[in-house]
Amino acid sequence: MSTTNSFKRLARAVAMAAVLAGVGIGTAQAETVLITGANRGLGLGFARAYADRGWTVIATARNPDDAADLKALKTNGKDVTVEKLDVGDEASINALAVKLKGKPIDLLINNAAVNDGNGKGTTLGQFDTRFFEMEMRTNVLGPLLVSQALLPNVEASKMKKIVSITSPSAVISRPMKKETRRAHTYFYRPSKSALNMAMKILAAEVRERGVTVGIVHPGGVDTEMLRSVFDGKPQTQAQKPDDAALKIVSVIDTLTMENVDQVWGYDGKVIPW
Ligand SMILES: NC(=O)c1ccc[n+]([C@@H]2O[C@H](COP(=O)([O-])OP(=O)(O)OC[C@H]3O[C@@H](n4cnc5c(N)ncnc54)[C@H](OP(=O)(O)O)[C@@H]3O)[C@@H](O)[C@H]2O)c1
Repeated sequence: MSTTNSFKRLARAVAMAAVLAGVGIGTAQAETVLITGANRGLGLGFARAYADRGWTVIATARNPDDAADLKALKTNGKDVTVEKLDVGDEASINALAVKLKGKPIDLLINNAAVNDGNGKGTTLGQFDTRFFEMEMRTNVLGPLLVSQALLPNVEASKMKKIVSITSPSAVISRPMKKETRRAHTYFYRPSKSALNMAMKILAAEVRERGVTVGIVHPGGVDTEMLRSVFDGKPQTQAQKPDDAALKIVSVIDTLTMENVDQVWGYDGKVIPW
């Protein structure tokens, strides 16, 4: 028997063994995504979308014990791990980084954020320093610290992507609408503008290390965050979190080193900075 035929037989045997083992030949190991603020809203939608795709999902939450919807995703052999992470707490970020040391993370999604939509302590005449610091810490410093702490994990992966979720309300050139409370989110909107700039800088710095850093906005999504701007009322005209997450996942797929220096929308359209 020729060496070529022996090789072919060996390759067939290996392929068959792999199929029997449920591995699949030519299929790389499942990609891993880590999502912040994954217990509800858009973050939960991301966790569901990537779990359905067969990815390994590290879904983080401030209070894993209360994350029932997230834990429910673990059914049917889906690879979902729930980890504790408060992006406003450096010790919490570092503790997770230590726990995940050496584990490749293909995609990090900085999703967690807070919004001063309900106006408490954040309206003109009532500015409260504590709210401002909390929003900037959660929405800007948090994504930076998480990205920094998990950068070795991202670098160790195949895909090497970091994506932060921003908002169209961050666009500075956008005309201010009339006196709506939504327009006057004094702390939230600047925090997302700052996030965009922070991520732009990060993108430029880690590009040479092969890491792609993107920014995507979800449009309007009927989550607790959006409802908080409208006195807790459901926003039925807005997208459902799972639908918006699926669209963003498709956009994230298209992000490359060449096209990330822009703010992408869930609909695949670029918006101004
Ligand atoms: N909904 C929209 O229309 C809309 C529009 C534009 C942009 N966005 C952006 O989309 C992303 C997701 O928002 P969403 O609408 O899904 O809001 P959401 O329903 O209010 O969910 C926010 C998530 O962030 C988490 N979070 C808040 N502070 C945290 C912290 N310090 N550490 C860890 N997690 C924290 C929350 O966890 P807890 O349950 O522990 O509070 C929750 O899981 C945000 O970046 C938001 O700015 C949303």
